[in-house]
Amino acid sequence: MTQTEEKTLSTDTPMVPMEKIVSLCKRRGFVYPNSEIYGGVSGIYDFGPLGVELRNNIRRYWWWSMVQTNDNVVGIEGSIITHPKVWEASGHVENFVDRLVDCKNCKRRFRLDHLPEENVRLKKCPVCGGELTEPRTFNLMMETYIGVVEGERMKTYLRGEACQNIYLDYDNVLKSSRMQIPFGICQIGKAFRNEVTPGNFLFRQREFEQWDLQFFVHPSEMQKWFDYWKQFRFEWYQGIINHKDRLRFRAHGPDELAHYAKQAFDIEYQTVLGWQEWEGIHWRQDWDLSRHSEFSGQDLSYTDPETKERYIPWIVETSGGVDRTFLNLLLDAYEEEPPSRKDKEGRTVLRLHPWLAPVKVAVLPLQKNKEELVTTARDIHKKLRRLMVSQYDDVANIGRRYRRQDEIGTPYCVTVDFQTLDDKTVTVRERDNMTQVRVAIDELPMYLFERVTWR
Ligand code: GAP
Repeated sequence: MTQTEEKTLSTDTPMVPMEKIVSLCKRRGFVYPNSEIYGGVSGIYDFGPLGVELRNNIRRYWWWSMVQTNDNVVGIEGSIITHPKVWEASGHVENFVDRLVDCKNCKRRFRLDHLPEENVRLKKCPVCGGELTEPRTFNLMMETYIGVVEGERMKTYLRGEACQNIYLDYDNVLKSSRMQIPFGICQIGKAFRNEVTPGNFLFRQREFEQWDLQFFVHPSEMQKWFDYWKQFRFEWYQGIINHKDRLRFRAHGPDELAHYAKQAFDIEYQTVLGWQEWEGIHWRQDWDLSRHSEFSGQDLSYTDPETKERYIPWIVETSGGVDRTFLNLLLDAYEEEPPSRKDKEGRTVLRLHPWLAPVKVAVLPLQKNKEELVTTARDIHKKLRRLMVSQYDDVANIGRRYRRQDEIGTPYCVTVDFQTLDDKTVTVRERDNMTQVRVAIDELPMYLFERVTWR
């Protein structure tokens, strides 16, 4: 299957309420509230056994698409804590702020830029109609301290956007690899923001993970590369969702551009939260390298090896979120199917792309009390688990076991039945259409591997 190959799934299913995803995530071990036994921390989450598999698959597939298969892109992994001057140079200390208002009546809190114009003008709460306070400004950077001796400790910040490490390491990458402009540097890493209104589950968190490409170009080629990566990223998302009509671009208006951006587009996805940003494509121009040159005193300009022209490279940024991808994929994949001819009880199914599904295959003996079936199924599972995430399950009747796997998005179930003992074949049941085929045990690893691994 290629990135852009269409899947034959309906796109007219209703939007999934967030509570269904929150409940599934907790019940089946995708996501847990952080520090739950102490009452939790707003906007911070932990990932359970299935969650971590899904996250790893999402990250690896992004890395494969962006770094491994692009000769002009390399990766780095920078630290969360950097010199505090980084955040002065980047403009975050001064500009990375949200403006907040509170309702004097119902005590609800709103970000000023999330309120309808009318409510801002009339200072009126959109929920109860009460009077709103004057806006207050808050910086989103999370502070921390390096050092132990009082008075010598240096105040710095947990990174507010992961991409800053890329600008800091740009010159080292250039000197230590054989990259020449145009080229890109990628990174996946945690970012921290003291969001004043965290919420909507994983959508707006205080600790989250970003993936960034910073692509360095000659100014004369900026438009070409901006258009290239904008389209590339759109198609990447299209390739991993079912509801292709719920993806679109939105251009930023002049009043909402970030302090560094000269032009920006969001790739948006439509869920029960409405159309919301999934990834930003930003025309950062020479802002970052110029500022870091200025604040550090290091010359970060580039000399073209052929023309000897010297210039500060311009930057195309594609910046998205692992957590938002995780959430959007679950919202995109979740479906409650009513009883049908194929499944008399109805089922909940996660139609996750097989490349990304946390468990790739479940191996099920038809009956638990038949030793030969159990032994054969366990043997198959032991072979498969070396190649992909496989689960062995012999608890409850086969229908219940299929439904358990459907609910976590397992694309294939392998059933060992009495025919297996005669002809060494198994039944492979496919999650979406519930079709079943017989496959020889010897051919099973390759049959599954080809279907669950990206190429
Ligand atoms: N370096 C550019 C930058 O950080 P951004 O639009 O602020 O741009 C990029 O963030 C992406 O990071 C967003 O598109 C979103 O996917 C993710 N993101 C941002 N804030 C987030 C938050 N509070 N919680 C979860 N994901 C977030």
